[in-house]
Amino acid sequence: MKLWGGRFEEGPSEVFERFSGSLHFDKRLIHADIRGSQAFARALERVGILTAAERGQLVTAFDQLDAEARTPGFFEGAGDEDVHTLVIRKLGDKVGTLAEKIHTGRSRNEQVSVDIRLWLRGEVDNALGLMSALMEALLACAQRDPAAVVPGYTHLRRAQPVLWAHYLLAYFEMFARDYERLTQARTRVNVMPLGSGALAGSGFPFDREALARDLEFSGITGNSMDVSGDRDFALDFLYAASTAMLHLSRLAEDWILYSSEEFGWLELGDGVTSGSSLMPQKKNPDSLELIRGKFGRVFGDLSSLFMTMKGLPMTYNRDMQEDKEPLFDAADQLCGSLEMARQVVETAKLNPARPAQAAEESWVVATDLAEALARSGTPFHQAHKIAGRLVLESVRTGKKPSDWNAESLKAFAPEFTPECADVLNPSEGMKTREIKGGTGPKHVAAALADAESRLRQLRK
Ligand code: ARG
Repeated sequence: MKLWGGRFEEGPSEVFERFSGSLHFDKRLIHADIRGSQAFARALERVGILTAAERGQLVTAFDQLDAEARTPGFFEGAGDEDVHTLVIRKLGDKVGTLAEKIHTGRSRNEQVSVDIRLWLRGEVDNALGLMSALMEALLACAQRDPAAVVPGYTHLRRAQPVLWAHYLLAYFEMFARDYERLTQARTRVNVMPLGSGALAGSGFPFDREALARDLEFSGITGNSMDVSGDRDFALDFLYAASTAMLHLSRLAEDWILYSSEEFGWLELGDGVTSGSSLMPQKKNPDSLELIRGKFGRVFGDLSSLFMTMKGLPMTYNRDMQEDKEPLFDAADQLCGSLEMARQVVETAKLNPARPAQAAEESWVVATDLAEALARSGTPFHQAHKIAGRLVLESVRTGKKPSDWNAESLKAFAPEFTPECADVLNPSEGMKTREIKGGTGPKHVAAALADAESRLRQLRK
């Protein structure tokens, strides 16, 4: 069946049909298409195109279709151009010529917009739930080792000691922003386009606000031409998804490193790792590698839709049919990665002795030392130089910070005070960083409590 054809003397070629058909991917929108069409049937009743009985018959037939669409084989052998066409054909099988009224004053251009919006709204909600579950897992991970000290890195060189919990809370912040971005994208998804017609507005006086209420949209779109040519709401989602994937890829990279033999901080759960077909000893972090790899894919989805939309003349162009596969893919990869990351976090075990040792044997306390000197009156540039010389001397003679004490420090440079000896212990130096947003243990404990209440708030 076709939703057009009167103006043609010949049908489409087999090549063109094969090339242009979208049913094999847009069938995923079928439940959204049916829901939108049921609301549209009610709108048609309100403008007098359908009687109450006809509307009832259509809505019931749609309900049956919706159930059938969940059974295997439903789409088998269907040669329809797209999901919208298939739904109307199957409706015709049930209600006969009455099905021919359902498309009164409606265009597929607005129908595809409403379908994607309904579907995407559900995907965003799913992603938000998975995101908050991951955030919860990160907090639980922090609570398991609240006092663990690790070296923080810049340039992948040991920089300053931080609490493991402080490190995890950094990711909590990233995902909190992602949560916000997804929520913002949702507000632009959640606008009702029906009534726009093909591009000029419908020729029937639909109560668009009533349609919006019916489909639980928060408002209606403002311009029919904009509706036909607009996929900003999908781009907003793809950007939010890409940023979340970016953060996931960085967490994945960290944990691939931290769980390596070279670091030895983390033991990943057996259930999220795989072995080698050849090397019997291997326990590979494939789950994390896949999460890291999938960022490229999701960012590709974003750039794909950007490129599709670039320079399109107003309004709808068939190019826009290329919006769906990247969008579906991005939603799948984002949700899959969030779910996977949560399980990795839940099953990982920190071995706090290893990062503590890494912090102790390196000179991550050098900044604390220079600042302790500055606190007792040495100008910071001098303090920096003295601490630097102490590190150089220690590197030359193979000394760790713990090989020094108040006396030997004093002998090395008279500026050193007894407080300086305290901060040679990474856990002590951290206590000087009691500032909002810093790694001071009291502030980290407060930040953890705060994160927990923010998460509860998000979930409401
Ligand atoms: N399958 C089409 C799409 O996804 C539906 C809209 C078709 N509209 C049209 N004017 N050909 O974009």
